[in-house]
Amino acid sequence: MPSPSLPSPPQEQWQQEGAAHFCVGDAFFRSSSQTGRDLAVLAAIAYKTHHGQLRVLDAMTGCGVRSLRYVLEAGADYVWANEGNWELRSRLQANLSHSLPPDCYRITHQDANVAFFDCHQRQDFYDLIDIDSFGSPAPYLSTSLWAVKLGGLIYLTSTDGRATSGHAPDKSLQTYGAYARAHPAAHEQGLRLLIGAVAQQAATRGLTASPVFSYYQGEVSRVMVRITRQSAWQSAHYGFLAYCHACGQFQTLLWKKLGRVSCPCRAAGLPVVSGPMWLGPLHSEPDLAAMHGAALKSDRWTDCRVLIDMMRAESAMPPYYYPLAEIGRRGKTDIPPRQVLIEQLCREGFTATRTHLSAEAIKTTAPVGICLQLARQVSQRSPLPE
Ligand SMILES: C[S@@+](CC[C@H](N)C(=O)[O-])C[C@H]1O[C@@H](n2cnc3c(N)ncnc32)[C@H](O)[C@@H]1O
Ligand SMILES: [Zn+2]
Repeated sequence: MPSPSLPSPPQEQWQQEGAAHFCVGDAFFRSSSQTGRDLAVLAAIAYKTHHGQLRVLDAMTGCGVRSLRYVLEAGADYVWANEGNWELRSRLQANLSHSLPPDCYRITHQDANVAFFDCHQRQDFYDLIDIDSFGSPAPYLSTSLWAVKLGGLIYLTSTDGRATSGHAPDKSLQTYGAYARAHPAAHEQGLRLLIGAVAQQAATRGLTASPVFSYYQGEVSRVMVRITRQSAWQSAHYGFLAYCHACGQFQTLLWKKLGRVSCPCRAAGLPVVSGPMWLGPLHSEPDLAAMHGAALKSDRWTDCRVLIDMMRAESAMPPYYYPLAEIGRRGKTDIPPRQVLIEQLCREGFTATRTHLSAEAIKTTAPVGICLQLARQVSQRSPLPE
């Protein structure tokens, strides 16, 4: 129901997300993407707390929900709401003018890349650039670097799961400069190809892009990166992932070892190799800690706190995961209960965690053979069904 204090355009419903009230009208808006927006708001709160200021360029704003939330919840001092579709102007104007003082926002309708070059032309750099694109954000990776402040954040969205999951490797080569192959950790591969691409683009400009957080949900990959002056390029963080279809073992592969990949199982077929992609941590632990701190301020962030806890646990784990169904299938046993298998692996001296990438998977430092062995033991110990 519309709030009595809000204007109620015919056939339109005011809705609320976080502190933002808005009408969607003809804009593209998915309420199911709220967690991706929540995480960005928490990172923005942490940024503002740390830096004392926050100016946001919301480059593909749609109905303006993010612009509203950055100001109303993260205390952004100023937001530039850009939307390529001119026909959304009156909707966007109505949404922003309803809740924001006129001097704290600006609305434009231009291609996002024009906005980025305009920033550079005027030497007016932003603390946070949000690029909520359809498909791949590749056309905006290098250009957004012209508009972001040193130390600032870029938030990227990718919905081209077909290319990143290995089902269209030539497409991923065109988009990310990386050959993506199919394997069971495809959700994570989408995030890592994206981080790898922006890290490499940043490096060409003498900058470093490193992940603040990475989030996969329902075929959408989202990555927030921090852009800083270049620190030493770490080749170990930008390489390849190999997967053996014979035994199910993953391994990382660095540039020097290309061409010398083999699996310990000695299968006749060689492992398939994906990449290059980001092989470093998926998230930044200090940033997640700050986001968690911000999320403690209200009960409405409870779900985000649980998610952030999971991200913190998986952050330093190897760059892949094992689906439980895959472990069951290869081990010719039941699908092992996630928590029981994690505890068994930890008891054996390995590290093992849940992962936000799939509720039906684990991350572990153990070889796949050990996972299969423990899954069989777990299955034998379980009481037989009556
Ligand atoms: C996924 S929707 C944005 C949704 C919105 N950020 C939200 O959270 O609800 C993408 C928007 O970007 C706009 N858009 C697409 N390509 C663009 C471009 N190159 N420059 C500016 N806007 C663009 C589309 O018109 C669309 O409204
Ligand atoms: Zn193998």
